Amino acid sequence: MPTSRTRTRTDNHNPAAKLRLRRHFLDKYHCGEFFSVFDCCRGSGFLWKTLAKTYEFSYFGVDREPGKGLITVDSARLLEIADLDADVIDVDTYGSPWAHWLNLLPNVTRPVTVFLTYGLVRIVGGNIDRRTVEALGMSFPTLEAPPALVIKTSATIPLRMVALAWRHGLKVVEVAEAVNRGNARYFGVRLEPGTGG
Ligand SMILES: C[S@@+](CC[C@H](N)C(=O)[O-])C[C@H]1O[C@@H](n2cnc3c(N)ncnc32)[C@H](O)[C@@H]1O
Repeated sequence: MPTSRTRTRTDNHNPAAKLRLRRHFLDKYHCGEFFSVFDCCRGSGFLWKTLAKTYEFSYFGVDREPGKGLITVDSARLLEIADLDADVIDVDTYGSPWAHWLNLLPNVTRPVTVFLTYGLVRIVGGNIDRRTVEALGMSFPTLEAPPALVIKTSATIPLRMVALAWRHGLKVVEVAEAVNRGNARYFGVRLEPGTGG
């Protein structure tokens, strides 16, 4: 049995759960419309190739590994660009999607559906990224929460990160998680410009 440190990376541990989550949001918020997808972590492209059999959308997929995406880039940086013109943003990372999330929040000016994969491998390894810790107010200039404490609270990190949308005047219309027994959690979030809540 591989340990969390030796486990090899697989693009889609539980594709059925990922697809179920995406279909739930697409049916609810994009039903019958032609929508645009920005796939931040294209990988093999399996998810959106599969969804293209049922839904009609324009697609732009990038990856930081050469040869996987239409362009090779750290997509978290692309999300810093204002007016990103996408109805759906898919952040199906191996590890932490929160750099993407924090970069996109200030730039949401219209309704958008966001998918986030939160890999737990890094958490078991005790490595929660600094921006997440800072965003949640768990670090101070002179005092830092012990890593063990941060790790203990990690189960609550996703919802606390989602709630940061309120600080940007966004309404969190829906958050849903697809149940997965593996080493990652799969979330969908529907955001609309508005008055929080
Ligand atoms: C779980 S796989 C994605 C699987 C994909 N959704 C599919 O349908 O096959 C994760 C991919 O995200 C890419 N990735 C992770 N972080 C990234 C980033 N910051 N920018 C661009 N690509 C990233 C990895 O290189 C990897 O190919």
